[in-house]
Amino acid sequence: MAQTISSGEPKWLYHFDTLESTNNYAMRLIDDGMAQHGQGIWADRQLKGKGQRGNTWQDHPGNLKFSLIVVPAKSLQTPFRLSMLVAATLVQYLRIILPVNCQIAVKWPNDLYVNDKKACGLLIENVFRGAQWAFAVIGIGLNVNQTEFSGDLRQKATSMSLASGSRSFDLLEIITDLRHGILNKFLAAETLNNELLLRDYNRFLYKRNCPVAFRERLSGRLFEADVAGVDEDGRLLLRLPGGLQSFAYGSLEWLLQED
Ligand code: BTN
Repeated sequence: MAQTISSGEPKWLYHFDTLESTNNYAMRLIDDGMAQHGQGIWADRQLKGKGQRGNTWQDHPGNLKFSLIVVPAKSLQTPFRLSMLVAATLVQYLRIILPVNCQIAVKWPNDLYVNDKKACGLLIENVFRGAQWAFAVIGIGLNVNQTEFSGDLRQKATSMSLASGSRSFDLLEIITDLRHGILNKFLAAETLNNELLLRDYNRFLYKRNCPVAFRERLSGRLFEADVAGVDEDGRLLLRLPGGLQSFAYGSLEWLLQED
């Protein structure tokens, strides 16, 4: 895990050639009392990249593996609000960077979809000290310069490069822009009404008002419903024959055609 020291890189960034996981490194900095708001950790390669629900995150050298340490603003109140803030920042960023005909959306709760395929996964880990939400580590796995996916992923995954006719992107520029976007939204969250976050997140929600097939993880029940939105507790609202029903994070699996 040699740290890459390059004169052009900012002081807030720890850049490594190889790490097990940028999120784990950030957590270690927090445990050792060395963490600061706005510090970033970037690895060219991750040996044990972590995904949602204990999954592994596959590594590709052209993609971004980055973690940002933040001290959550009091006004954010809940981890889901932070997750909405980060997802909205990413959608807004990709909408600026990628061609206008790309469809970019947040697949509840934490995936970014470009043209109906996954381009980015977020893993946000929180550190509470007593009742105090002391730190959050925002882990971003963004497919940037990968142009070929093998096996299953061919149908399910895409990258910024694929979405933009094989353009190649500078990872440090992306890191700098995303950090700036997230930290700015943090400042805004101090003063702005939190409802705006929810409004943005819902505006960007994947398959909103469209029918989707789901599997309920606990019961195995299969059903189809229209995606109506997400509520302020981060629950997915689905339109079912009996009316709106809300589902907690992790309780549903999306059964998409591409899957
Ligand atoms: C997902 O399952 O979709 C979330 C994937 C998150 C991957 C990123 S890569 C940078 C950071 N470090 C990790 O070990 N995981 C996150």
